Amino acid sequence: MISTKLTELLGIDHPVVSAPMGSVSGGGLAAAVTQAGGLGLVGVSYGDAAFIDEHVGYAAERGGVWGVGCVMFTFDERPGLWDKVLGYAPPVIALSFGDASQVRRYVESAVHSGAQVVVQVHDTEQAAVAARAGASVLVAQGAEAGGHHKTQSTLPLIPAVLDVTQGAVPLVAAGGFADGRGLAAALALGADGVMMGTRFAATEESLATAGFKATLVSAATTDTVNTRSFDVVRGIPWDTAYTARSVGNSFTRTWSGRDAELAAARAEVEPEWVAAVARDDTSQRAMFAGEVLDLVHDIRSAADVVRSTVTEAETALARLGPLLHTS
Ligand SMILES: Cc1cc2nc3c(=O)[nH]c(=O)nc-3n(C[C@H](O)[C@H](O)[C@H](O)COP(=O)(O)O)c2cc1C
Repeated sequence: MISTKLTELLGIDHPVVSAPMGSVSGGGLAAAVTQAGGLGLVGVSYGDAAFIDEHVGYAAERGGVWGVGCVMFTFDERPGLWDKVLGYAPPVIALSFGDASQVRRYVESAVHSGAQVVVQVHDTEQAAVAARAGASVLVAQGAEAGGHHKTQSTLPLIPAVLDVTQGAVPLVAAGGFADGRGLAAALALGADGVMMGTRFAATEESLATAGFKATLVSAATTDTVNTRSFDVVRGIPWDTAYTARSVGNSFTRTWSGRDAELAAARAEVEPEWVAAVARDDTSQRAMFAGEVLDLVHDIRSAADVVRSTVTEAETALARLGPLLHTS
């Protein structure tokens, strides 16, 4: 067993969190991770009433220490959805991608609901804002991550965030973790656990489509690209400070770096793109995945991922002990 400030605060067995991935982390994945002793998060993401009822409802029914993940800047545009999420009384609410005023507002509301509040940050300035706003846990996510990220890498970001927070709240490392070697490294840096996205997308319980899962297993880290194309074609007003790491395909080869042209052509391109996504066309669809792809070789159960991550980390940490010599 590995006990940290994170496991103690949340009352979970293992310092392993499954990321709140939109359209991928449903109630089944979240509940499986929670049942295995980690923290399972449902990816509410941009918010969709039917998805919330089905997947947040499922995780709530299964119980334990589970949570939801919401992308703050999109909730402001969708009145009523935040209250719908709170209606399921998630014990943990993870917040990502908001400006300072949104962080303050959503943290206050989530704390008021009685939840433990996790805020994802990408630099030390965001860490200071989230800590001051009253977050119970910070997630520091580096640019190795699958999906949206800023530019700083995880390795120096973790100790830099710890220097800002002075360890006042548990810190979870995200971006570049897929096994126990990564968990051990995160703990050595001073983090209290890891959040894994890409690794959990490649599990039996994930909602990733068959084409996406097959790509996660077959693609290499060098196949990933950072792009805004999928945000532009969907018309989602992302802050341009963020790009999304995705497996490169025909769509990114055609449109990456041509955001203004794509925005102008959206009326023609979007319907075809939506139809391609509906038939799981991997040459067109978004397949967010991180630099860990070289470490992902199979589709396994989420419980197996939690278990192996912890046992490998225990082995890695035990290997370090004998390196210490007192002279
Ligand atoms: C397929 C996929 C979808 C994601 N969707 C979201 C999302 O909707 N909201 C969010 O906060 N983060 C999202 N992320 C980022 C994760 O929360 C997490 O920070 C990231 O996956 C960690 O890096 P890793 O992929 O190296 O494990 C997504 C990541 C992936 C791989």
